[in-house]
Amino acid sequence: MRLPVDLRSDTVTQPTSAMRTAMMEAELGDDVFEDDPTIVRLERRGAELVGQEAGLFMASGTMGNQVAIMTHTRRGNEVLVGRPCHIQEHEVGAAAILSGVTLVPLDAPTGLLRPQDVDRAIRTEDVHHPETGLLCLECAHSSGAVQPLDSLRAARDVARERGVPVHLDGARIFNAAHALGVTAAEVAQGADSVMFCLSKGLGAPIGSLICGSRSFIARARRSRKILGGGMRQVGMLGAAGLHALEHHVARLGQDHARADRLATALAEVDSITIRTDRRHINMVWFHHAFDGDPIRLVQAMEDRQVKIFRPLGGEWRLVTHLDIDDEELDFAIVQLREVFGNV
Ligand SMILES: Cc1ncc(COP(=O)(O)O)c(C=O)c1O
Repeated sequence: MRLPVDLRSDTVTQPTSAMRTAMMEAELGDDVFEDDPTIVRLERRGAELVGQEAGLFMASGTMGNQVAIMTHTRRGNEVLVGRPCHIQEHEVGAAAILSGVTLVPLDAPTGLLRPQDVDRAIRTEDVHHPETGLLCLECAHSSGAVQPLDSLRAARDVARERGVPVHLDGARIFNAAHALGVTAAEVAQGADSVMFCLSKGLGAPIGSLICGSRSFIARARRSRKILGGGMRQVGMLGAAGLHALEHHVARLGQDHARADRLATALAEVDSITIRTDRRHINMVWFHHAFDGDPIRLVQAMEDRQVKIFRPLGGEWRLVTHLDIDDEELDFAIVQLREVFGNV
């Protein structure tokens, strides 16, 4: 058993030895000259999986979202986003800094944007108004929820009918696809650009892709260069991403099943209430009735070789991933039940 068991996030995974071998053996070129064969293969394969024409390697999901925003919009535009979402809450206000746009948050606690809200928020032609430049959707949502495809499409369709492009933050799109029982291409259908992460559940150490039409990606390549993201022999990272797409997509169901088992075990603790309404992917969110300092519990868990984050917005989040097997999960469940059940 590997200790500590780290339930903080699916971003904590280490590359497997097969992935490290793929990285060491990667065929390399200069990606700024667009001749790194491994990156070319990765971008082609990634785009194919999400049903788009072309892809572009990014250092991170945040960079992917920001390059997409910069490419779709003009300074002064408004960008419609759900509240909360990663772009608004966790990207340091980058859209304003880098692209000079204003984020317009529409209520969507689980990422479910109502088409009528989107419709109302899109600006009409008026010399006084900023123009609406983009709608950003997020699926899976970082609350753990996966929106039904018809609601996702309803919000998207309103925007497109009004001439507003749509970007999908699909950091965990393969988790969403697994939860919905559809392909990632079906989740991304109709989006003008899609970002997904090769790190997180897929287990690559670094990297994300943005995908879209050939002309969008050609423009995005320039935006990425502006941000200093033109990288050279980056196929070493691309090989990890390709390996992840080949070997770590189908296994995501194991992480979801382990999250189910974790949620069921914790639900038996009286003071814990599982957010079953958002129990769709590899995350377990729960409320714990406890008046004391939550850091005490985080420390008690650390002493027992289980890493967890303090609560976010009053709720705890635990995440299963590639580096947690059944035995390690069982160990963590015993520790969690003792610590959370006895305060
Ligand atoms: C929904 C969502 N979008 C974007 C990101 C950003 O990814 P990165 O941490 O690689 O910048 C994350 C990261 O957790 C995320 O959850």
